[in-house]
Amino acid sequence: MIEVKNLHKSYGGTEALRGIEFTINNGEIFSLLGPNGAGKTTTLKILTGQLKPDQGRATIKGFDVLKKRKQIRPIMGVVPEETNLYERLTVVQNLKFFCRLYGTDFDIIDNYLKQVGLEEKADAAVKSLSRGMKQKVLLIRALLHEPEVLFLDEPTSGLDPAAAEAIHKILLDLNHQGLTLLLTSHNMEEVDKLSERVAFLDCGHIAALDTPDRLKMAYSENKIKVLLKNSDNQQKDYEEKIIPMNSEESASLMKKWMSEGRLAAVHSREPTLADIFVKLTGSDLM
Ligand SMILES: Nc1ncnc2c1ncn2[C@@H]1O[C@H](COP(=O)(O)OP(=O)(O)OP(=O)(O)O)[C@@H](O)[C@H]1O
Ligand SMILES: [Mg+2]
Repeated sequence: MIEVKNLHKSYGGTEALRGIEFTINNGEIFSLLGPNGAGKTTTLKILTGQLKPDQGRATIKGFDVLKKRKQIRPIMGVVPEETNLYERLTVVQNLKFFCRLYGTDFDIIDNYLKQVGLEEKADAAVKSLSRGMKQKVLLIRALLHEPEVLFLDEPTSGLDPAAAEAIHKILLDLNHQGLTLLLTSHNMEEVDKLSERVAFLDCGHIAALDTPDRLKMAYSENKIKVLLKNSDNQQKDYEEKIIPMNSEESASLMKKWMSEGRLAAVHSREPTLADIFVKLTGSDLM
């Protein structure tokens, strides 16, 4: 669906992108994870035709993003980083405005308002909405012309956990209906939960690219943490042990603890995406 090859972009002396490459499959949820200034928005702006790269090439469904704007516009939707709605107009007025631009039927608006749970706010002025509600309006706006691929720049930044969760659910629903999604985030939990594959973006480089699970496996220390119950006369009720995941010694220890009835909990010690990010780049995600 999307192919990105050797993209470079500088702003004056700042190199924002230093040759990034990735492909996104049809129907995939793909995330760009990186801290402030990593180059996430720059990448999205190039893909959505708002910015010209200095070098490299990107295509959507085989169409060059620079040269084939007319072919690409109908197949892509964009949820930008800033909330750029008409604040004094109502929700429906905002959405009708875009329906007219795209030449789509107004009927579709009601369905989307229901799908995201905003039907009661249809006639409210956008300026009276919460940040999460505005984000939902932006999302509907990006979907009015029924695109095949949706670009979302930090779709849940600044939202409380419940509002973020609501957006996640909608995104997963849309993806089940066949939409391809490219989102940026610096929230590793969000990326872990939503994406099929993730690219770690750091200072304009892709430091790693894979499924969240494979990344976690690759950087796992292959250790497990066990919590053991102590006998009644000991000072502490429980003690913690960290042992290798696959070894003869661990197997016999586990067997012993199990037969003694001491095993209270077992956890695999896999790193989080944030741990791996720090390990690979030396930078924090925040
Ligand atoms: N219009 C601009 N003029 C000059 N420098 C810019 C401009 N836009 C971005 N940059 C620089 O390019 C780099 C990448 O910025 P970009 O906005 O792509 O990062 P980002 O990953 O989206 O960050 P954030 O998480 O803060 O949104 C940064 O160093 C930034 O300062
Ligand atoms: Mg950004």
